[in-house]
Amino acid sequence: MKNEILKTIHERRTVNQNSFTDEDIKKDDILTILEAANAAPTHKRTQPWRFVVFRKEGLERLGAELSRIYRTTTATDKYTEVAEQNMAKKATMSNVAIAIVVNYTGELPEWEELAATACAVQNIWLAAHSLNIGGYWASPGLINHLGPFLNLEENQKCVGLFYMGHHNAESREPVRSPIAEKVRWEE
Ligand SMILES: Cc1cc2nc3c(=O)[nH]c(=O)nc-3n(C[C@H](O)[C@H](O)[C@H](O)COP(=O)(O)O)c2cc1C
Repeated sequence: MKNEILKTIHERRTVNQNSFTDEDIKKDDILTILEAANAAPTHKRTQPWRFVVFRKEGLERLGAELSRIYRTTTATDKYTEVAEQNMAKKATMSNVAIAIVVNYTGELPEWEELAATACAVQNIWLAAHSLNIGGYWASPGLINHLGPFLNLEENQKCVGLFYMGHHNAESREPVRSPIAEKVRWEE
């Protein structure tokens, strides 16, 4: 018998905007999710995770910016209008999008700040799942151009967008090779 935490860990899946419904995510639920993020472990308690939450018209602005970045940074022979529109749709078809930002303090190796932020994202994902909210971590190359739009400081870097929505996705088994192939026991 799995306890609730184990069940949540095993049932959490990537859910993308194609399965999102129109149901609004309550602000209280967003706050619960952000508090879960803030409970992540952090070496020297630097708490390097920063978030920018997009809702309502904020999502339209984010979508427009993602389209603009795609249009202005994609080589002419790779550019398609459909891809430009799809870039915006990821934002506008979501109910909430959270820009994931690492705040590098210089007190620790950068990988530790990134690792702590990734722990915070996993907490977001698990908390969202526990509230019947689906989501996924999107890391397209164009997030490297989001700095000015997000008003980031010199020592901050956007490492993804977490798109969320209530959804109608069927539950599915995770695609994983057996853990036994990834572990060596020394006994
Ligand atoms: C750091 C990171 C970046 C990711 N970036 C993307 C992405 O850009 N697009 C995407 O569709 N999924 C992305 N994912 C989600 C993975 O594709 C997904 O977790 C994986 O396929 C396993 O599926 P599951 O989450 O349902 O177990 C990312 C996940 C992580 C941890």
